Amino acid sequence: MTTSMTTLVTTSMTTSSCQSTVQLYDLHPPLDDFRSEVLRGLMQPAKSISPKFLYDKQGAELFDEICELEEYYLTRTELSILQAYAPEIAAYLQEAVLVEFGSGSSQKVRILLDAMPDLLAYVALDISRQHLQESCENLAIAYPHLKTVAICADYMQPLELPNIPALQQRRRVGFFPGSTIGNLEPAEAVQFLKQAAILLGAGGGLLIGVDLQKSPDILEPAYNDAQGISAEFALNVLTRINRELGADFNRDQFEYTAVYNQTAGRIEMYITSLTAQTIHLDGVKIAFEQGERLRTEYSYKYSVPQFQALAALAGLEAAQVWIDPQQLFSLHYLQLPKR
Ligand code: AVJ
Repeated sequence: MTTSMTTLVTTSMTTSSCQSTVQLYDLHPPLDDFRSEVLRGLMQPAKSISPKFLYDKQGAELFDEICELEEYYLTRTELSILQAYAPEIAAYLQEAVLVEFGSGSSQKVRILLDAMPDLLAYVALDISRQHLQESCENLAIAYPHLKTVAICADYMQPLELPNIPALQQRRRVGFFPGSTIGNLEPAEAVQFLKQAAILLGAGGGLLIGVDLQKSPDILEPAYNDAQGISAEFALNVLTRINRELGADFNRDQFEYTAVYNQTAGRIEMYITSLTAQTIHLDGVKIAFEQGERLRTEYSYKYSVPQFQALAALAGLEAAQVWIDPQQLFSLHYLQLPKR
């Protein structure tokens, strides 16, 4: 998708103390893409739904709740690494445009912004439009001197940044926190990193959070919490498909599970059909056997050398890695050769 298909929405927020403007570019894929991708996933022998569809407004809010859970160590650990090493990390981002992939509520980036008051531009890419807009407006109020650009897009697809002066002629550094790369299979992760490298350009860099391999005793509860928020997050996609595509899923007929596949090094998340049942979507009948699984997510975990090897396949050189004292999570700085 190119920027020529972009809708530009400029939102202005006025508060008593300041006025800030966020430029929002809407490259959001049309509803037909959602429909056809969901149908394709449900008609395969091994049913699946792409994790990107989990983030409608409700889904994005539920994910924020997951990040606060005791069992979900990822968010707080990554935040602690960012806090502990902020000045050192900021040194890698000097005189760059910061481009965040999957900015969500844009909380983590604030730690970086606080450590580098002279950063000129911040670009937030996210698939959840409302979430993106709200969080960028809040950010623009908190950092009035920062040029903030929001782009609603599926950043897993190739894309170009809008051709505006603030984003040109500058070194670009990507920020991809949260171990979101773990949603991709390793070969797809390499593809994504190659695309990111093109967008960032020669001499650029990528600051990326990657969850480390560890005992299933820690991993499995992180993806199946006692309060059932993880289950709610996965099952919400069925509600979304009903609402937006007119399907007739009954959530009570499904159950959520998360298991660690040690061999593959990934958490696997599924919605399991509790009965034999048929779902209707767009005139198509989708049959589920009792116990049949619909995959919602993989969440890959990598050792440091494993991830560095993966990045190398995309032409990204390992420059630095920061890890918390309990060795739960890693934050890599990768760099692109200067050409
Ligand atoms: C957003 C992909 C990083 O894999 O930890 C968390 C998604 N799903 N709990 C993860 C998720 C259920 C999360 N990522």
